Amino acid sequence: MKTFQKTLIAAAAVVLSTAALAQTQAKLKVGLMLPYTGTYAALGNAIENGFRLYVAEQGGKLAGRELEFFKVDDESAPPKATDNVNKLVKRDHVDVLIGSVHSGVAMAMAKVAKDTNTLLIVPNGGADAITGPMCAPNIFRSSFSNWQPGFAMGEVAAKKGHKTAVTITWKYAAGDESVAGFKEAFEKGGGKIVKQLTLPFPNEEFQVLLTEIAAAKPDAVYTFFAGASAVKFVKDYAAAGLKKNIPLYGPGFITDGTLEAQGESAEGLFTTLHYADSLNTKRDNEFRLSYAKTYKLQPDVYAVQGYDAAQMLAIGLKAVNGDVSKKAEFAAALEKAKIDSPRGPFMISKAHNPVQDFYLRQVSNKENKMIGIAVKGLADPARGCKM
Ligand code: PHB
Repeated sequence: MKTFQKTLIAAAAVVLSTAALAQTQAKLKVGLMLPYTGTYAALGNAIENGFRLYVAEQGGKLAGRELEFFKVDDESAPPKATDNVNKLVKRDHVDVLIGSVHSGVAMAMAKVAKDTNTLLIVPNGGADAITGPMCAPNIFRSSFSNWQPGFAMGEVAAKKGHKTAVTITWKYAAGDESVAGFKEAFEKGGGKIVKQLTLPFPNEEFQVLLTEIAAAKPDAVYTFFAGASAVKFVKDYAAAGLKKNIPLYGPGFITDGTLEAQGESAEGLFTTLHYADSLNTKRDNEFRLSYAKTYKLQPDVYAVQGYDAAQMLAIGLKAVNGDVSKKAEFAAALEKAKIDSPRGPFMISKAHNPVQDFYLRQVSNKENKMIGIAVKGLADPARGCKM
């Protein structure tokens, strides 16, 4: 090869590697699509707080890259979700999407993420489909599938010897799938669901349905609500005089981040979740102290899921030296990682959903006390995921 050709090739290599370096040293654009208004507003804020706390603990950078945030309030409104996520992907050109809380919104995000091959980490929305039929190499979840805590509670309720249950929830993916998980385990354990009551999201007119529950006289009630509406439901259930006669069960969302507002009405309730207030491990104690100092608030499961979404992003980014275009390497790193979560260490399944312990908790003195492990290492069945 002639000298000038060698020089040209060398110069081209310098230009290319400089371009790659510039790209990986530019700020990483993070699109936060979360509810900042409506019944799930507190959940969205807790997720963002948790996410930012982890980033701050790393000195503000992940894999050497500073972060730039782009935010959208999705209002937990599925009809607006596709436009909202497209603002982040097509207008702001984010490198990674983080969101959302509401299953319907999260599914719209997963669809866009898949179509545009954008990285997505879901820090709550439990829609079974996201790590089921919609599963994809670039989509991850730091939280749970709706099936998981429901299934864990179904086992607990059956073991307690209850034979009949009424379910009450919102008519959308999260409510339907939470109830389906509960039903699967409860009926396998010898129980029977005698009535399934629903109302549209985010409706809170519970009175008529509470009257139906009183008339049906089941052994137990299973419910999924969350955020501000979980506060109202738990209070209304107690005020209707049902709490002392018919035990109320649910995924831990019915009492997480809500206990100050629920007060006495939540005392004694049993729930199942992948987090609790009294794990008392070194990892969780440090997280809780750091969160409380930073935000003057106690953390909840949503804060943990936001924190772990940032940890998962960091693990993937480190493996690709900050270059998010290397999707396969990013995924491979996460698939073999043990994530050091405040909830306890967990790994992700082939479908990219956490395989994790579900704690049995009981509300005592305004805390979700861990009283045991309901199901150890529970994996979502990932029905329909071909990956
Ligand atoms: C959901 O819509 O998937 C959802 C919302 C709030 C929760 C849990 C699940 O607390």
